[in-house]
Amino acid sequence: MPGVALIGSGSAVPNPILSNHHLTQMVETSDEWVVTRTGIRERRVADSQTSLVDLAVPAARAALTMAGIAPEDLDLIILATSSADDLFGSACRVQAALGANRAVAFDLTAACSGFVFGLATACQFLRTGAYQRVLLIGADILSRWVDWHDRGTCILFGDGAGAVVLQAQAQDQVLGIELGSDGRLNACLNLTYQAQPQTLVPGLVVAQGTYRPIHMDGQEVYRFAVRQVPLTIEKMLFRHSLTPDQVDWLLLHQANQRILNAVAQRLGIPAHKVISNLEHYGNTSAASIPLALDEAVRQGQVQPGQVVVTAGFGAGLTWGAAVFRWGV
Ligand code: UT7
Repeated sequence: MPGVALIGSGSAVPNPILSNHHLTQMVETSDEWVVTRTGIRERRVADSQTSLVDLAVPAARAALTMAGIAPEDLDLIILATSSADDLFGSACRVQAALGANRAVAFDLTAACSGFVFGLATACQFLRTGAYQRVLLIGADILSRWVDWHDRGTCILFGDGAGAVVLQAQAQDQVLGIELGSDGRLNACLNLTYQAQPQTLVPGLVVAQGTYRPIHMDGQEVYRFAVRQVPLTIEKMLFRHSLTPDQVDWLLLHQANQRILNAVAQRLGIPAHKVISNLEHYGNTSAASIPLALDEAVRQGQVQPGQVVVTAGFGAGLTWGAAVFRWGV
């Protein structure tokens, strides 16, 4: 069975910066509260002219350039997102913009776990030999769906995109993956459809409407994350005969610095091995892992051959972990 390697990364964020100080003009909060409780100082937000595709395409191009792969060599494009420009999916527009004419393209929705779920999906296609080269993008513009009057959520989220290129090769560098879902906890974090009944003909009422803003029970999600994520990572490492001291980098979904610290502590992974860039971007949902990975690779932190453990968690509720060696 062929193995899988991650051979390139890229990212893109919108230019406008929304700082904690800006938020104090919008809701009753303070820079001190947000920094102490989350570690976030600022986030990027897409202006009204910027689409999800506008962020996904430059992230993808940067990943392709690093990988040395031409768009027409791609077999598959997966766009992990919960905020597509088009409910029918935005992956095909990314495909067209890249000129990846041979590639199959589709969206995948698993909220903040989207990147890890996308990685798992890409690996299936590569390991069966069906495809040779896959572009996986995580991108979200949650600023479209945040309730900017809700101080419990509006302080957290930011917009961005990150991408990786994966290829099939003999040496398998994706050492393990573990996914999970628990729909019983769905009410803790969601962005649900709000229907207005419309009578078409007497006796037949359909629903038309839009989506409500993000609803989150922060404490419940926090508890879930610090309980489930270390358990999942421990299980994954155990199954693949790995130990936490063999991990070079812990790359968690960038939700809250306190969650990153608590998970690292439970795993016994020292703070200097924890990748964190949420101070400048907040929680960018499906983009957060590839965005942080790309920065760490470009800054020379993550080196070829090093072992990275990653984990996403969020709405669904969903969670997923993966362990891989960076590069061929
Ligand atoms: O990507 C998916 C995942 N999402 C997450 O991982 C989010 C996980 N949850 C969290 O990160 C944290 O729960 C939050 C950062 C959202 C909230 O932090 P917390 O320490 O759990 O605060 P809390 O909700 O327990 O609120 C503590 C107090 C409350 O006041 P009282 O009732 O003690 O008087 C809140 O009303 O802080 C108040 N509060 C705020 N104060 C100033 C809540 N939000 C704010 C705010 N500024 N923005």
